[in-house]
Amino acid sequence: MRKVLYNRFGDEQVVEVQEQPTPTITEEQLLIQVKAASINPLDWKIYRGEMKLMSGSKLPKGVGIDFAGIVRQVGAGVTRFRVGDAVFGLLGVFKGGALADYVAVTEAAIALKPAAISFDQAASLPVAGLAALQLVDQLAAIGKGHEVLLNGATGGVGQFAIQLAKKRGARVTAVAGQAGAPRATQLGADLVVDYTRQDIRQLTQRFDTIIDLSDKLVFKVAKKLLKPKGTFVNTLPSPQGLVLSFFHNLFSARKRKILILKPTAAGLSTLAALAQDELQIPIERVYALADIRQAYQETSRGNVKGKAVVVL
Ligand SMILES: NC(=O)c1ccc[n+]([C@@H]2O[C@H](COP(=O)([O-])OP(=O)(O)OC[C@H]3O[C@@H](n4cnc5c(N)ncnc54)[C@H](OP(=O)(O)O)[C@@H]3O)[C@@H](O)[C@H]2O)c1
Repeated sequence: MRKVLYNRFGDEQVVEVQEQPTPTITEEQLLIQVKAASINPLDWKIYRGEMKLMSGSKLPKGVGIDFAGIVRQVGAGVTRFRVGDAVFGLLGVFKGGALADYVAVTEAAIALKPAAISFDQAASLPVAGLAALQLVDQLAAIGKGHEVLLNGATGGVGQFAIQLAKKRGARVTAVAGQAGAPRATQLGADLVVDYTRQDIRQLTQRFDTIIDLSDKLVFKVAKKLLKPKGTFVNTLPSPQGLVLSFFHNLFSARKRKILILKPTAAGLSTLAALAQDELQIPIERVYALADIRQAYQETSRGNVKGKAVVVL
C-alpha cells in the first residue's frame, strides 16, 4: 500500500509516498481503507521537528492524523463496527500515518460517518472539530451571552469554533483575513474584523473569551482585550507555556489556557451528530496523494484558507 513517510525532519521536501506493507490487525483493531485524510498545521509542525518533545525523534515517521474510509477487516474483539461500515476518526495525534491506503485502529478512534456528509468532509472533522469542541466547551466553557473573540476564525478549527460558539449562545467577533470575512459571516459570526485592515488592539470592546488560532496573538496583547475575569486560550502547547500559565492563573483573575487535544470517542460521536444535523464543513482544496508535497507547500504557507483534504 502507499503511505506518506519521512526519514528526516525538515520542510515538505522530506515527505514522500512509499510502498509499505498493509498493516495487520490485532483482535481489538479494525483495518480501514482510507478514502480521504485531512491536512492540519500539526502535520508540518511535527515533520519540521518543532514538536519533538511530544512527537519524539524516532524516524521514519508517518504523516497525517485524521481520516475517513471503509472498514475492511474487524478483529474478533470488535463489537461496534462491521466490515463495510463507512467511518471517520483519528490516529494518535503525535503518531501520524493517516496518509496511507490503510490504517489499523481501535474502536475508540472512530465513529460511523454520518450519511449526510462526504468522505472528504468526514476526514476534515476529527482534529479541527475535536479541537473546536474542547476549546468552546471545556477550556473556555462558552455559554449564553458570552462575548467571544476568535482570532483566526476561518481556518480549520475556527470555522467549527464559530458555529459551536454561536450554538452555545455566544456573541462572536471573528478575526479573519480579507478573503475569509464573507465566510465568517456566513458561518454565523456577529461581527468580522479584517486583520489586514484593522489592528485588533484598537478594539474598544472587552471579551469574556479570546481564542487565538493564528499562533500570533500573545497574552500580553490579548489580556488588554479581556474582561477582568476573562479567559485567553491559545493552541501552542510547550512546557514553558504550560508552566507560565499555571503560575499566572494562581495569581490572576484573567486566565490563560493552552489547548492540548484529547481525542475521545464521545467527542467523535458529538461531531457525527452535529454533522448529520447542521454543521457546515467547507472544504477549500482537494489534493491527490501524488501531489502531497505541493499540498503541504501551499497549506503551510497560508495559501489555502480553510480545510484541505487528500484523497486516496
Ligand atoms: N494544541 C493542539 O492540540 C492543537 C490541536 C489542533 C490544532 N492546533 C493548532 O491550532 C491552530 C489553528 O489550527 P487550524 O487548523 O485552524 O489552522 P489554519 O487553518 O491554518 O488557521 C489559522 C488561521 O489563522 C489566521 N491568521 C493568520 N494570521 C493571522 C493574524 N495575524 N491575525 C488573525 N488571524 C490570522 C488565518 O487566516 P488567513 O488564512 O485569512 O490568513 C487562518 O484562518 C494551529 O496552530 C494548529 O496547529 C493545536
